[in-house]
Amino acid sequence: MSNATDSARNNLTIRPLGAALGAEVTGIDLAGPLDDDTLAAVQRAWMEHLVLVFPNQPLSDAQHISFAKRFGALEEHHQEIIKSRAAPEIFSVSNVDDDGNLMAPDHPSVAQISLAQRWHSDSSFRPVPSLGSILHGIEVTEDGGETWFTNMYKVYDGLDEATKVRIAGRRACHDFGHLATLGPIKPLTEAERQAMPPVWQPLVRSHPITERTCLFLSPIYNNAIEGMDEDEAVELVAELNEFAGRDEFVYRHRWSRDDIVMWDNRCTMHRATPYDLATRRVMHRTTVIGKGPVVAA
Ligand code: SIN
Repeated sequence: MSNATDSARNNLTIRPLGAALGAEVTGIDLAGPLDDDTLAAVQRAWMEHLVLVFPNQPLSDAQHISFAKRFGALEEHHQEIIKSRAAPEIFSVSNVDDDGNLMAPDHPSVAQISLAQRWHSDSSFRPVPSLGSILHGIEVTEDGGETWFTNMYKVYDGLDEATKVRIAGRRACHDFGHLATLGPIKPLTEAERQAMPPVWQPLVRSHPITERTCLFLSPIYNNAIEGMDEDEAVELVAELNEFAGRDEFVYRHRWSRDDIVMWDNRCTMHRATPYDLATRRVMHRTTVIGKGPVVAA
């Protein structure tokens, strides 16, 4: 139901941020209640632009969580070291602990978060991967610490025919445990391993809302491709990863304090860029649970 007061408070302006993907949304206060019409306008803009940036939204975690829940139920991460103590729905993308202390670069949380400097789609390792994530820049870095996004519709469309044929009908393995092979992170506990056994997902998927075809890849978790030996699979994931990162597919977000950025995990990948770990970077993320299994295109 629309609410006249809320509609009057929100008068959206949507400005595309580049040729590849992304739009800035102003004229909205995410801290307050959003009427259904405004929410529908945000949803339409999200499906069109894939990544939305809302500048100057100083939300509390509770307000962030309320906004995120308008899009679906929220994940609680399966590892205690990543979850915020105050709110289990908050995934802490941070080198600062819950007590406000800077953590050392080799702290297990920092080491693991640093692996997000490679392209990935959040929670692709779950049987039902996330539909989208919402990230609040609370303490942002001046140099580095950007977040880059790539448009996986355009990536798929841009593949040569031979590659499209090579990946058609195949599934990739998404294994949370693969992270441990990429860097010196804390070994997974038996409980963590059992919570997230490897899953197989189509490499080419149909987006459930737009029904467009896109590549579904998450190289930090991909350790095998159906019907290929290990060398061939590793080489193909590396090739697709490199192709997806081409300039023409990418929007680079440079953070300002209190930006809220939301992205669609079904048709984008993202990565953070390196920054000086002696400076504080505090980002709080909510992750919206997908509505159903990944459907092959
Ligand atoms: C993430 O991978 O969810 C966080 C990206 C970032 O740290 O910029």
